[in-house]
Amino acid sequence: MFKRILSLLLALSSLLSLRADEGMWPLTLLSKIQDKMQAQGLKLTAEEIYSINNSSAKDAVVRLMKNGRMFCSGEIISDKGLFLTNHHCGYDAIQSLATPQDNILTNGFWAKSMAEERPAGFQIGLLRKIEDVTKGVLEGTKISDPEADRAKIVAANLAKVKNALLESLGDDKKNYVIEVTSFYNGNQFLAMFYEVYRDIRLVGTPPENVGKFGGETDNWRWPRHTCDFSMFRIYANSDNKPADFAKNNTAFKPKHHFPVSLKGVKEGDYAMTMGYPGRTTRNTYSEGIVYLSKKERPMRVQLRRDIMDVYETHMKADKNVRLMYSSKLASIGNYWNKFNGEAKELSKPEIFAKRKNEEKAFENWVRQNNKTETYGTVTSLYDEAYAELNKFGLFPVYFQDGFQNSVPMVAAMRASGLLEMLKDKKSDKGIAMAAEYRAGIPEMYIEFNSEIEKQVLAVVFRHLLQDLNPEYLPKSLKELAEKAKNNYTLMAEIAWKKSMFSDTTKLKKFFAKPSAKGLEKDLLFAIVNEYLTVLRTDLGPKFTEINTKLDRANRLFLAAKMEMEPTVTMPPDANATMRLSYGTIKSYEGRDALKYNYYTTSKGISEKYIAGDFEFDAPDKLMTLVKNKDFGQYADPTDGDLHTCFLSDNDITGGNSGSPVINGNGELIGIAFDGNWEAIASDFGFMPSVQRTISVDIRYVLFIVDKIGGASNIISEITLKK
Ligand code: ARG
Repeated sequence: MFKRILSLLLALSSLLSLRADEGMWPLTLLSKIQDKMQAQGLKLTAEEIYSINNSSAKDAVVRLMKNGRMFCSGEIISDKGLFLTNHHCGYDAIQSLATPQDNILTNGFWAKSMAEERPAGFQIGLLRKIEDVTKGVLEGTKISDPEADRAKIVAANLAKVKNALLESLGDDKKNYVIEVTSFYNGNQFLAMFYEVYRDIRLVGTPPENVGKFGGETDNWRWPRHTCDFSMFRIYANSDNKPADFAKNNTAFKPKHHFPVSLKGVKEGDYAMTMGYPGRTTRNTYSEGIVYLSKKERPMRVQLRRDIMDVYETHMKADKNVRLMYSSKLASIGNYWNKFNGEAKELSKPEIFAKRKNEEKAFENWVRQNNKTETYGTVTSLYDEAYAELNKFGLFPVYFQDGFQNSVPMVAAMRASGLLEMLKDKKSDKGIAMAAEYRAGIPEMYIEFNSEIEKQVLAVVFRHLLQDLNPEYLPKSLKELAEKAKNNYTLMAEIAWKKSMFSDTTKLKKFFAKPSAKGLEKDLLFAIVNEYLTVLRTDLGPKFTEINTKLDRANRLFLAAKMEMEPTVTMPPDANATMRLSYGTIKSYEGRDALKYNYYTTSKGISEKYIAGDFEFDAPDKLMTLVKNKDFGQYADPTDGDLHTCFLSDNDITGGNSGSPVINGNGELIGIAFDGNWEAIASDFGFMPSVQRTISVDIRYVLFIVDKIGGASNIISEITLKK
């Protein structure tokens, strides 16, 4: 009897725990959440997800990397190294492989044999090991050390620790990247060992109007009908080890690959994601919320929108321009959209009030527990830092969103290091570097349309002059504005004439016979160079101070939080390391009286379809299949329709794009590709009632591969579970 009551109680409590749980969990904490996951429907053990000694689910999760930086996630689905990620993750690679004559971005691409697969130009990392190195990294520090001193010790320790770990790899060293990453804002450090495979090839991609159906209008929105996937393969040498691209490399044999479920999903089913969320800041201080929502985000939204308008006007008029600028538009647009939502969401008074309350509770705790010596300065450090950011924060932001979105400005920036070298008459290093620069010109201007770039420059000039503190603006820019009487178009025209960075012929000519004088005389070079000097010299020390204050406040605030609730295991903020989020398939209420179903179907494709539209066109072949309900084995057994996307309450963010969504049996049910509008600000706080992960149903993916791509060779490689 007693036993029965106990199990009843247990069942009840597990029912109660069937609510969305915050957390992008590091794999090292799985034992803490295993019971909860299993109560929600997971049939696997923590050990089957992440094992130190045996193959486990994590061996099928890949980290997409380019130039040493991670950008997306993916999952291996065959014993021949075939992996899936999102279309928007493969986008850059696909665009680079596309030409006006062989436009695989627009038309799609399907390799009918391995020989047809094409080098993708990025790498993938496989997580091989995790090691807690907190002790070594924090050796010789105390919690209350002055931040600058501490930073020095930590940096030296980090280098030492990392080196020792790398050396411990012996011969494998050349194939590994080790990242030592801060968790809980510098209170814990974990070393991640990635084996990096360098020969990655494109296997298949849907046409753009399938993989990006709905464009920027549907981005971050539900209901969704985007089939956001692309497929690649990992190649290895004859020992299954990483190798540079070589024709005779062979398909990589993974330790684990995900079987793929054809059974579909129902509300309440277990769902988990594994992948690489980039960054969250869930403890952002109240004044930080104000700064972001009132200033930083709205300004960036405007700047980005204006650049996008230039792109879109020209892209709509010319197919080849569309191909050339599509990847840039998507990457500027994605966060234009998100920042816009964040600005609105974060300016809600209740969000600010909630922060304030938490901060008050923290201050009370500090006082009541006599912790003033350690934690007493936290809030004032925050206040000071954000007051300064309010004054100067936009300078680096406009560098990123303005200068770096202009091809000639980027080119001028890359030349800035050359100036001093060319001035040094005693050395011929400058000449050698100039030759190197010259060789890189075609690559820098590969996506360059003169008319677009001139207009973008006018946009950037306008925002710099209208939005930033004039005291710190480049003199050359202010003079140009004066000369053109603040006519920004005219300013860009003048710059176009007076700068060689507007024209590759002029640029090549100059760098064949470079001179310091010539560089200094160049108008765009002068503007860029002065701006860089301002950032480094005039504002540099300010930013060091601001960052030191923020680092210290962030670190101490989190340390206090852990001290306040010692029994709670808090999931740490995302930091581009592998995380797991568990949850269930779930619908939600968007706003009053509006309930969203948890899945979409082919019906919605027809509803949204607009022939020839920039965002809502779709292939004729797809529309015919939809009309005839010709879905084959990919139809849902309950209604015979094609289910396209679904929702679950997993906690993810950017970087998770391409993550596997896995059912209770460890089978792949979808690919995560987005979040919803109502939870657009979730990086700043988990929103259990409305936060949803948007995934493409794996059956929609396979349907496209099979019926649109005709790639039965790919289907037959996959382990299907009916
Ligand atoms: N919002 C998605 C994410 O950041 C990316 C979607 C890309 N699509 C687009 N239309 N830009 O995860």
